[in-house]
Parts: sequence; C-alpha cells; structure tokens
Amino acid sequence: MQSISTPVGLSLPPSDSSCAIDVLAAALDQRDSYTDHHCDRVSQLALAMGQRCDLDESRLNHLVLAARFHDVGKIGIRDDVLLHPGKLDDTKMAAMRSHPERGARLFAATGRSDALAVAKLIRHHHEAWNGSGYPHGLQGEEIPLESRILTLVDGYDAMTSQRPYRGPMSTQRSIEILASECGKLIDPRLFGEFMGLLRGGSSAA
Ligand SMILES: [Fe+2]
Repeated sequence: MQSISTPVGLSLPPSDSSCAIDVLAAALDQRDSYTDHHCDRVSQLALAMGQRCDLDESRLNHLVLAARFHDVGKIGIRDDVLLHPGKLDDTKMAAMRSHPERGARLFAATGRSDALAVAKLIRHHHEAWNGSGYPHGLQGEEIPLESRILTLVDGYDAMTSQRPYRGPMSTQRSIEILASECGKLIDPRLFGEFMGLLRGGSSAA
C-alpha cells in the first residue's frame, strides 16, 4: 500500500489494519482503564501458557491478540452494567454476556488477515469445560485450546487484581478457587500446566 503524500511533502504512514487495533486498544482504555490493564496482564500469562502448550508461532500470535482484546466488546456495554459494583441481576448479566460476541465482531471488522481466527478465540473465552458457559455452550475440546487458556488466565488475573470494591485475592485462595473449577469452568489439563507455570517448572506435556 502506498504512503500518502501531504501538501508539505511529509509522508503519512499507509493506512493498514495495525492502526485499527491501536484504535481498539485506545478505545478500550478510555472506556474502562481497569479492563485495559487487565487485558495486558492476561496477554502475558496467555503467552506463557501458550508456550507451555507448544503452540506454534502463528497460534501464539493469535492467542496474544485474542488475550489483548478478549474484553474489547465491553466498549459496547452500558455504564450501569459495566461499572456496576458487585453481583449483576439477570438483565444486567445478560447484557454483560453479550461482550464476547461484540468483541469478536469488533475484531473481525479490523480487516486483518488474522481477524477471523482471532475473533473466534475472543468469541469463546467464556465457554466452560463442562458446557455451562456462553455464548454457545461448547464443551471440552470443542472449545478452542486458546480460548480455554484465556478462560483460565482471565479468571486468575481477575481474582488477583485490585478492584474499587474489593482488594486483591491472595494467590493461594485464587488457586483454590481455580482448582474447584477444574472439570467445570476450567480444562483440568490446563490447570496442571498453570500450576507448573506459577511454580516456574518445566512443562508437564
Ligand atoms: Fe470477558
């Protein structure tokens, strides 16, 4: 794609799809800076988990992008839902549960060559291993591995983060809760890998 020449002879960078994701990132930061910082941390954990699972470079790239933008659909969630402290009622919960599909559509609209592959991972980051998740109620290995990684590291970071209405949960308590979700929300094999990651050991795979 050619650069655009300006009247004073400066060259603007070509308009490409990398600009589109910069705009998405900035929009998410302005909408909800907690979510933006949370997504940065989730990206780092997801990358480490992807490497433990021996994903190739292409899948790692998709995973990191999906992690960075997994909650970008929250841009479209109303304030009284997005910023509601504590438990959501059924109506608000239904609205909040639209964010994976909203996010997938936003990322797909970037026009990147990897947009649909990454959008699929975003769409399924709230599925559950036992089929009780959303939006499609996928079960077990029907859920993309990368989305299962996101579910785990997203939950861990959310629990161990400081929020306006509560302090961070301890690592130990967070691990206990994740362990209790093995076979329900969480892929048990990935939980084992995550424990190895936190201990700094080598992959069990
Ligand atoms: Fe989410």
